[in-house]
Amino acid sequence: GKAQVVVMGSYVADLAFRTEKLPAWGETYMGEDFKLGPGGKGSNQAVAAARAGAKVSFISKLGRDAFGDIARKTYGEEGIDATHVFETDSPTGAAAIIIDAVKGENAIIVVPGACFELTPQEVEQTRQVIAESAIFVTQLELSLPTVEAGLRLAHSLGVPTILNPAPGHELPDTMLQYCDYLTPNETETEILTGIRVVSLTDAEQAADALLSRGVRNAVITLGAQGVLVKNATTLQHVPVYVAGPVVETTGAGDAFNGGFAVALAEGKDILQAARFGCAVAGISVTRHGTAPSMPFRNEVDELLQRFT
Ligand code: RIB
Ligand code: NA
Repeated sequence: GKAQVVVMGSYVADLAFRTEKLPAWGETYMGEDFKLGPGGKGSNQAVAAARAGAKVSFISKLGRDAFGDIARKTYGEEGIDATHVFETDSPTGAAAIIIDAVKGENAIIVVPGACFELTPQEVEQTRQVIAESAIFVTQLELSLPTVEAGLRLAHSLGVPTILNPAPGHELPDTMLQYCDYLTPNETETEILTGIRVVSLTDAEQAADALLSRGVRNAVITLGAQGVLVKNATTLQHVPVYVAGPVVETTGAGDAFNGGFAVALAEGKDILQAARFGCAVAGISVTRHGTAPSMPFRNEVDELLQRFT
């Protein structure tokens, strides 16, 4: 059967605006294109993991509104178990994603809304599904006490944990100690360690700082430079496997984390898992959108075969 992955995290509707220039305050500008779709780092990682071949349960909270309906429809279509997606009368959150139509860069404002109301007490109610899973994955778009409660619960059940510390936030060592795998990008690494990461050498130094703070495995994502993996016994660098021309990198980190989680849940070692995650990300960047751009397992396997 499929390996089981549990993702606890955010859902927001992504409102993606493609524009040639950013309006200044007080200015209105006509954009090129608009798309509405499912987003939020947690939800994107759940979709990535499901398409990459895992049985996925998602833990979150949604409003009883149209943006929440996009999520409920997505989980139905993707075969994601949404039994532990709670509901509230508060509105579902949204992300304004502004994409530069020329350079492809983006600027994002996230208002998490309903998912931010997920409480540590509700996390406790998901004990069973966490206990049944091969890996627990979370990020930082939920309230910090809730993130910590999830990590602590998974850890106490002996389920390995991945914390993708995005968006960047300082974290106490008490929380890092529950992290079997920490997957920051360059800016998140700098927020956590104070080390500015430009080169692989910087990344290695930052990884050591994270390990000394209690993280078991530091997995630092470096954009086009790939991923640096470091633990007590291994130091490895994994390159990116880009499947074609890059059109949009929003959600690439989510693609990596979803893929990385599936591979670990299947029993692959950390290096193979990082490669698998890089392949998932390397396909997602060749397509528009966040969750909708996540690749299916056969596509990931084909890309990896091309490189090995
Ligand atoms: O990581 C990308 C995601 O971050 C987007 O889907 C947006 O919703 C923001 O939360
Ligand atoms: Na994409």
